[in-house]
Amino acid sequence: MATTYKALFIEEVDGKFTRAIVDRNTDQLPVGEVLIKVAYSALNQKDAMSAHGNKGVTRTFPHQPGIDAAGTVVESSVADFKSGDEVIVTGYDLGMNTAGGLGEYIRVPAKWIVNAPMHDIKTMHAVRYRRAHRAIVHQQTGTQRLHKEQGAVLVTGATGGVGSIAIALLAHAGYTWWQVPASGTSDYLKNLGAKEVIDRKTLSEENKRPMLKELYAAAIDVAGGNTLANAIKSVKYSGSVASCGLVENPSFPGTVFPHILRNVNLLGVDSVEIHLQIKKRPGTK
Ligand SMILES: NC(=O)c1ccc[n+]([C@@H]2O[C@H](COP(=O)([O-])OP(=O)(O)OC[C@H]3O[C@@H](n4cnc5c(N)ncnc54)[C@H](OP(=O)(O)O)[C@@H]3O)[C@@H](O)[C@H]2O)c1
Repeated sequence: MATTYKALFIEEVDGKFTRAIVDRNTDQLPVGEVLIKVAYSALNQKDAMSAHGNKGVTRTFPHQPGIDAAGTVVESSVADFKSGDEVIVTGYDLGMNTAGGLGEYIRVPAKWIVNAPMHDIKTMHAVRYRRAHRAIVHQQTGTQRLHKEQGAVLVTGATGGVGSIAIALLAHAGYTWWQVPASGTSDYLKNLGAKEVIDRKTLSEENKRPMLKELYAAAIDVAGGNTLANAIKSVKYSGSVASCGLVENPSFPGTVFPHILRNVNLLGVDSVEIHLQIKKRPGTK
């Protein structure tokens, strides 16, 4: 039975984009296998781009944005999911050209859905948890594993969604010492488990030297630009840097020296198209 629901809706009129909360109907959602009542959706950079008419994110309007969602299955035509299951959907085409999580309902293919690990994390945190988890998994599965004794892990953009969950996960995993550059709010970061908070300017200024003092065992970077370049130059021998964002700049200056002289690994993180099996944690369906 069709249900009326509220959604953020972006419309294009004469090349201009309007944003409003409107009434929509589940009949208007795309054909798909699983109808989900959305409980939470994080606000992402791509949502803002879609809401402002960026055609690189959303080709056609009107559109319901929201590139991730956590909620409860309402209807399912596949055996893997049944009404009442708690699930999360992140990435693939959700919120790009498929109605997304900034509406109270979404309908998506089953192959986009992961059962939410409700036993150890609340639904509202699950969405960002997945991304930070990916970054940390990359740290751990680089050519060299990260050992706690090796020292601090640098987390950039630490007050943001990815960075703050990364800090909490690192704390949970028992890493005892790391530094996080942030623009302030050090109490918030220390409550999450950060041991030291440094000013973001420390890393965002261009430094022409090919390598810097070895400070960090590893780094998780959401900034790109000079920050990523300086992180790569400051990671210790055989350390890894996981690159997952571009809040400072999509380009970054650098040389091959940290990689060929210090064995430093630069690891890519994509949480959008990566295979569902990898998004799933052991023990989830
Ligand atoms: N690869 C993937 O699959 C993936 C997944 C999710 C997100 N991302 C990307 O990761 C990035 C962060 O996402 P998010 O959800 O964590 O964003 P967010 O919640 O908006 O957080 C952004 C963080 O970056 C900080 N920041 C802003 N400008 C900065 C700059 N010039 N230099 C250093 N730090 C800066 C912000 O600090 P203030 O608030 O103090 O300014 C905040 O701590 C985005 O680029 C996003 O597109 C990638």
